[in-house]
Amino acid sequence: MLIGGVPALDRHYSAVEGSWKVTDCSTAYGRLVVPHGNSEEPLYRWFHLKEAFSSRLLGQLLRDVGVSPRTNLSIADPFAGSGTTLLSGISACEINGYRANVFGVERNPFIWELSQAKLQARISGRSISDTFAADFEKIKKFHDDLKFDNFTVPGLSTLGNENYFPSDHMQDLLRIRYAIDAGASEATRSIFRVCLASCVESSSRLRRDGRALRYEASREPKPPWDSFVQRVAVTQGDLELTPPASSCGEVVLGDARRAASLATGREFDLILFSPPYPNNIDYTEIYKTEAWVLGCYGSDAEMKAQRQRTVRSHPSVRFSQEFAYLNSGFASAVQALIDPVISSVPVGDRYHEGRKEVIIGYADDMLSVLIECRRMISENGRLVFVVGNSLHGSGDGKYVIAADVIMGRLAELCGWRVAEVKVARMLKRRTGESPFLRESLVVLEPA
Ligand SMILES: C[S@@+](CC[C@H](N)C(=O)[O-])C[C@H]1O[C@@H](n2cnc3c(N)ncnc32)[C@H](O)[C@@H]1O
Repeated sequence: MLIGGVPALDRHYSAVEGSWKVTDCSTAYGRLVVPHGNSEEPLYRWFHLKEAFSSRLLGQLLRDVGVSPRTNLSIADPFAGSGTTLLSGISACEINGYRANVFGVERNPFIWELSQAKLQARISGRSISDTFAADFEKIKKFHDDLKFDNFTVPGLSTLGNENYFPSDHMQDLLRIRYAIDAGASEATRSIFRVCLASCVESSSRLRRDGRALRYEASREPKPPWDSFVQRVAVTQGDLELTPPASSCGEVVLGDARRAASLATGREFDLILFSPPYPNNIDYTEIYKTEAWVLGCYGSDAEMKAQRQRTVRSHPSVRFSQEFAYLNSGFASAVQALIDPVISSVPVGDRYHEGRKEVIIGYADDMLSVLIECRRMISENGRLVFVVGNSLHGSGDGKYVIAADVIMGRLAELCGWRVAEVKVARMLKRRTGESPFLRESLVVLEPA
């Protein structure tokens, strides 16, 4: 069975990747491109970011791509997410007696605070565990004393919906937030806020599922304070287990498309990242309840502005129609790369414009990121990105966006060489479906 548009598009993708080394690495990497094992690992288990990769990915990559932790390493991740690259970079170096200098960029204010708290905890380790324990006693007292139960529920309608969040649970989540504000010190505040964030979903009848939050009427929401106390106990134990690091690093709240300016002239031995995939997942939406409970947005307009700042990987908002590539020397090469994908988008349905915009916007944004990264890489450095390709449309109008091929070609245009495409997973492939339905690690070297 042939799916409309797919065979011609497959030929296009095959021609683009023609000279690249493409290897089936599913045995080594299949479980490393997902957060496999993170829920048992100290620090990584503080919050389940389901789009994270495994804490073990970076160690395997260092062994495979010729960047050896036999010396101090500088490592960057322009899409830092929950901080996996930064934390595992430090561990990979320190286990061998060396140091890492890590640098991350993250655009979502809640996810940024998560990575920032984990990085700070990884560096300070057990040296802050006594402060954490003492601060918890203060938070507990403030929580007990704050009898007030009429906190203004943040403006997001989801939080005010009693089917989703019983109102006493919402009040308690807010009470915990105010108790943290009052009781935590500068060194521990973000860590306690992550403990609170990790109780939000379990306090509700909502479940994060794929691209959306789903309502489950039968689900029994857990009392927030009990969950918070449990999370604090796990965190306390993790801090005690973590030796202070001699490495250093930072993660900045900013835009990957400006990563080189944010890194202020630093060069990196390894850049490892996983961008949002062009598969309609909108991180602003998926992690909105945590962000609102923590007070990251004060109004709908602020959340909308945040969405606009993210890369153009989904059509849930009308993004800017400015495309930097059109004014660059690569305009015709980029057009030749994306035109066959655009032509595969079925005409005549109401999603047509949105779908086209994702393809063009995503290519434009990824080109900007790869140009920035090229400015940040050391002479013998390597860049590895992890990305999943996705099937869009339905019936005869199906087409694949092969993000790994598109990004690999964009990288070639801006001064990289594709050293290898390591295929980590084939994605739910059925007979006749595109061989490009896969998730890959693409290894780049400066050309
Ligand atoms: C696939 S996740 C990264 C997960 C990460 N590798 C981990 O292990 O936790 C992609 C991240 O990119 C972030 N993001 C989206 N647009 C961004 C932008 N313009 N600049 C920086 N980060 C952005 C999202 O908020 C999300 O956290």
